[in-house]
Amino acid sequence: MKLICANSYQDMSRKAANLISAQVIMKPNCVLGLATGGTPEGVYKQLIDWYRKGDLDFDQVTSINLDEYVGLGHEHEQSYWYFMQKHFFEHINIRPDHIFVPDGANPDAETVCREYDQIIQRHGGIDLQLLGIGVDGHIGFNEPGAAFELGTHRVRLQQSTIKANQRYFASEADVPVEAYTMGIKTIMQAHKVLLIASGPAKAAIVREALFGPVTPRVPASILQMHPDLTVVLDHEASACLPAEFTA
Ligand code: GLP
Repeated sequence: MKLICANSYQDMSRKAANLISAQVIMKPNCVLGLATGGTPEGVYKQLIDWYRKGDLDFDQVTSINLDEYVGLGHEHEQSYWYFMQKHFFEHINIRPDHIFVPDGANPDAETVCREYDQIIQRHGGIDLQLLGIGVDGHIGFNEPGAAFELGTHRVRLQQSTIKANQRYFASEADVPVEAYTMGIKTIMQAHKVLLIASGPAKAAIVREALFGPVTPRVPASILQMHPDLTVVLDHEASACLPAEFTA
């Protein structure tokens, strides 16, 4: 594991964006596994900026997103499809047919998940997987207790996840209770994983995930076993790490 402590959210975003840029420059037709949530917004802003300056080209890049709420179609403003368009894709030159997000509008979980795993396979796997982390240690929507050996599947969201994500919806009751998510197996098969975390609310779970036991109780803890994991934290998210890692 390579651990990078940044001194602010902006610095974290820039450092993570630099690593994604390097991937795109080294392999212009790479497959990025992208993530939603508040944490990666700054990363996308930075990448858009470099794209506008002519430093990056997404023409051959494929993006395969981590997850989607069950029941929300593309037009729904809180769908992850919509999030990705608004925060990233509509500002860069990625081709529309190179964009994949699980189809939240399709209630047939078996078909959605099987086809999604086939899409990942057909593209030769994910070159770089960007991840945030939930306050309960979830990655994608793999909640505590998720089996490590699963591919894409349908999950029931924990109450703490619904509460945390409520800020994007009119009320807690509007937050979907289910999602489609790449499984831990899919994430672990990515060639490189880039985990980012920001803010004091993530400090304790970051320590547990990176330095605690590897257990399905903390899904992100499996990342300790990944052969090419880079973690970029802002100052606040790194607050609980053992001192030798924050100096
Ligand atoms: C959601 C997403 C995760 C994300 C997490 C944390 O549950 N499915 O991929 O990592 O939220 O979000 P945030 O970055 O807003 O804290």
